[in-house]
Amino acid sequence: MEGAARQNMAFTPQNFFRGVRADQQRKYELKSHLGKGAYGEVWASTLAGASDGEKFAIKKINNAFCQATEAKRMLRELRILRHLNHPNVIRIRDILRPQSESNFSDLWIVFDFVDLDLRKLIASPQNISMAHIQWIAHQMLSALQYMHSAHVLHRDLKPANILLSESCVVKVCDFGLARVVDEEDWVLNEQRLQAAPALQRQLSSTSMPPPMTRQMTSHVVTRWYRAPELILLQRYTTAIDVWSFACIFAELLMMLPEAELEHRDRTPLFPGRSCLPLSPVESELAEPNLDQLNVIFRVIGTPTRSVGWVEMKEMRDHLNSLSPIPRTPLRDLYPASPDTAIDLLERILQFEPSRRCSVADAMDHPFFDGMKNKMHLQLASQPVDAATIDFEHSDFKVGAIRRLVVQEIHRYAERATTGHARKRKLGADDDAEQAQASSSSASTTSTATPSPAAAAAPSPAAASEAGSTADADADGTV
Ligand SMILES: Nc1ncnc2c1ncn2[C@@H]1O[C@H](COP(=O)(O)OP(=O)(O)OP(=O)(O)O)[C@@H](O)[C@H]1O
Ligand SMILES: [Mg+2]
Repeated sequence: MEGAARQNMAFTPQNFFRGVRADQQRKYELKSHLGKGAYGEVWASTLAGASDGEKFAIKKINNAFCQATEAKRMLRELRILRHLNHPNVIRIRDILRPQSESNFSDLWIVFDFVDLDLRKLIASPQNISMAHIQWIAHQMLSALQYMHSAHVLHRDLKPANILLSESCVVKVCDFGLARVVDEEDWVLNEQRLQAAPALQRQLSSTSMPPPMTRQMTSHVVTRWYRAPELILLQRYTTAIDVWSFACIFAELLMMLPEAELEHRDRTPLFPGRSCLPLSPVESELAEPNLDQLNVIFRVIGTPTRSVGWVEMKEMRDHLNSLSPIPRTPLRDLYPASPDTAIDLLERILQFEPSRRCSVADAMDHPFFDGMKNKMHLQLASQPVDAATIDFEHSDFKVGAIRRLVVQEIHRYAERATTGHARKRKLGADDDAEQAQASSSSASTTSTATPSPAAAAAPSPAAASEAGSTADADADGTV
């Protein structure tokens, strides 16, 4: 999280639950400390007295209501995740009730437990096979396809936000910067992209046209994974998530044993030094503000086609003024990777978003041809209502946001109660809503089981240990 002054307390179970209602404190047993960050800390836990051993991850957000922007980020995650239901998207299982609902400052969110995240895995000495990469990448795309069908853009995909279980199941987390695209924008842009002759997708007939949002902000995606159109303050589309996917995919390719790289030498594809919020004022278009864009151009080359699609004149002028840089062959950067992986990267790493390979195209790409068990298509039954984030443009003060968070706490508590009751009665481990959706996703879930991890598990536990010492800011966070 950016900018918030966070409490610096010792990481003990006693401190962790300080401020939680007494009965709720007894609900979960903390098992191990998973990590900490600017937001607070995460503990692995189980339900007290439960014999099934099911683990949860409890994320405590310290001083959650210090700033309205941070509080909104949290509310956004609670609201959006309540509507998403996919095997590769993290679920919120519960939110602990604070002692005082009118005046609490910390929040405890209970998630599905997942062993580690890709940042920790990449920072560990672990190698992974091509089968693992196929499996992980395909699940990431599957999650993206589902999210986009729900008209949700994640906007902050980076290795730390891709969780990975020991059995190699991916769960995308951290929806704090996600957006719900409203119907009008979705339709407008569908038309716009259908009319665009630049759309030269060759692989699939099932592509979903990306929407655009009217929101323009540069504080969106962590900089190393940030698509060029975000740096250029363009309106953005689902293509921003596809760009971020490619950046993560490229990092995974560095984990192949054939790459013969020390784990310390695994680098992000676009490790820009800085990407300050760009101002449209031309004088601010100087170095180092555009370092991230320069780093991108050193790989994909400066634009060779018209940049007429860039809306802001200052940005167009800047692009037109650049000395030409040729595209670096991706094969030179990833010599140990198969041709299909290089081709997939090439198709995604297009400067112009409308020329970028879509999620569906990527899933149909020959890179995934040899996969034994592909994820089945699972789209949202309906888009998430844009009113889900109706607080977004309000100038609500923290008190008002806290009241909305309390409503969410009650909603999740109801679901948790229903879920536990069902579990006792039916032996199921899901809540009513998820059970309903699982009928459509059963095939997806079942294909998730025979993962390549069974054959060559990446030993996430060891990786987790090694990765936990990684620099907390080593992901290009702005
Ligand atoms: N369900 C989970 N199971 C295990 N670990 C988790 C889980 N959720 C989060 N984590 C760990 O905590 C870290 C931070 O979680 P998350 O990304 O949701 O928080 P955040 O407030 O957005 O922090 P940041 O700004 O650093 O992204 C993740 O990178 C991951 O290592
Ligand atoms: Mg995160």
